[in-house]
Amino acid sequence: MNIKAGVCVCIFIFIFITPSVHAQNVEGSEEQELEYLELIMNILRHHLEAIELLTKKESKYYDNIVNHASALWHTSNLLDHIYPDKDQVNDREWPWADKQEFDERVMANRTATKNLRKAAKVWLKDRDQEKLLASLEELKKSCRSCHKSLRDWP
Ligand code: HEC
Repeated sequence: MNIKAGVCVCIFIFIFITPSVHAQNVEGSEEQELEYLELIMNILRHHLEAIELLTKKESKYYDNIVNHASALWHTSNLLDHIYPDKDQVNDREWPWADKQEFDERVMANRTATKNLRKAAKVWLKDRDQEKLLASLEELKKSCRSCHKSLRDWP
């Protein structure tokens, strides 16, 4: 191969092959982002369900409620940047219209998990379950503010 042909091959690779590899990566990452979002949501759901189960009756796991509440707060801190792309949500009629509105609901969710965490720490001392369940209900309201009646979680 002479130098001219070599340069042509390099230009061909640069112009035609590099962009298509790049496009594949971007597509791949959108899928990964959605998978990650669903993963985080299921972590939230399972901690919430664990609290609901453990508050039903006393068991050797009773005090774990505090750790689940804490985990919910930590997980809600992972909700930054989770606004899904338009094509991921198109046919879903989500209750939030734009990113700003969505972010406000994320903030409200974070406040609700923070309050639940506080309530769980107080509950550890006074065992006032009603107050704890009231905070849990507030959190569920905030989850529903994003899901509305489209889905039955939580
Ligand atoms: C700021 C908005 C927002 C808040 C707040 C929110 N979610 Fe979600 N949630 C979403 C979006 C967006 C999806 C859509 C993912 C999809 O359909 O692929 C989702 C999906 C889910 C799913 C389904 C995941 C799957 O496997 O398909 C569950 C379960 C869930 N959320 C639970 C919760 C719980 C529990 C809370 C409250 C602790 C919560 N979510 C709070 C936006 C939110």
